[in-house]
Amino acid sequence: MALVTTKEMFEKSMKEGFAIGAFNVNNMEIIQGIVNAAAKNNSPVILQASSSAIKYAGINYLVNMVKTASLEYPNLQIALHLDHGADFETCKMCIDAGFTSVMIDGSKYDFEENIRVTKEVVDYAHAHGVVVEAELGKLAGIEDEVNVSESDSSYTDPVQAKEFVERTGCDSLAIAIGTSHGAYKFKGEAKLRFDILAKIKELIPNTPIVLHGASSVIPELVDMCNEFGGNIPGAKGVPDEMLIEASKSGVSKINVDTDLRLAFTASIRKVFNESPEAFDPRKYLVPARDLIEQTVSHKIVNVFGSNDKN
Ligand code: G3H
Ligand code: 13P
Ligand code: ZN
Repeated sequence: MALVTTKEMFEKSMKEGFAIGAFNVNNMEIIQGIVNAAAKNNSPVILQASSSAIKYAGINYLVNMVKTASLEYPNLQIALHLDHGADFETCKMCIDAGFTSVMIDGSKYDFEENIRVTKEVVDYAHAHGVVVEAELGKLAGIEDEVNVSESDSSYTDPVQAKEFVERTGCDSLAIAIGTSHGAYKFKGEAKLRFDILAKIKELIPNTPIVLHGASSVIPELVDMCNEFGGNIPGAKGVPDEMLIEASKSGVSKINVDTDLRLAFTASIRKVFNESPEAFDPRKYLVPARDLIEQTVSHKIVNVFGSNDKN
């Protein structure tokens, strides 16, 4: 089928209490690994591209590879989403190129400017049948456990969230409750503010909520990287149990990039280490694609609960 927006999959996720994985894509093998996993588990899926992914692969390559994936799996709901759109022009470029969903990340601005830029994107996107994710609250800086109490203001304010959604008309909202991007999310114990999530869901029950920075930084993958020559000490992510709780508590979209990077890198490192004579790229890209598929399958079935929800 044609690429879809996230509208129907989010409605179902809110009604039935599961989340949909939004996986970052940069090349063909990553796209294939993700959609193979989604198809095997009959799960809707969101493929998302950042501006740097677009710069790396080219917007037309990305759009057409994702469209090809949806031709390969005609019964699978696949949305193509812009991750962290910085401004109106970037969002417009993706809408015009065939993305079905865009994120305008105005979290760097103050409240009023965030509303203004988000509304501008919403007006253009909705006129073109595209949905918009916005962000309120700041992820950066929260990861440092030492600063948590000082950085309380970085968490999303539930009352502001309600006003923000009403004034912008955005279709989903990314919130800050303690996650952060990358492989080093917590210095001490992992902690998420589920109380803030609950309050947000109480005030805007019909708005799909998005969790960024939600890789679990799978210890086996970190170990595999390190075993075969990597150097990623002390990496820590959001434990699966917390993501399971989030999926059941009103989070509709869970963003994963770091875990895919680890899977891809770990499998390539293993081949390079064990088979130094290999130089056919397929020798290492096939295992890399397979480990992406395995990693995404695990999340769909054991964490997000989106299997058989297509
Ligand atoms: O949230 C950011 C994503 O992990 C994308 O990262 O800009 O390096 O592609 P990137
Ligand atoms: P991770 O770094 O935790 O994978 O988060 C990715 C993300 O939020 C992309 O927008
Ligand atoms: Zn993000």
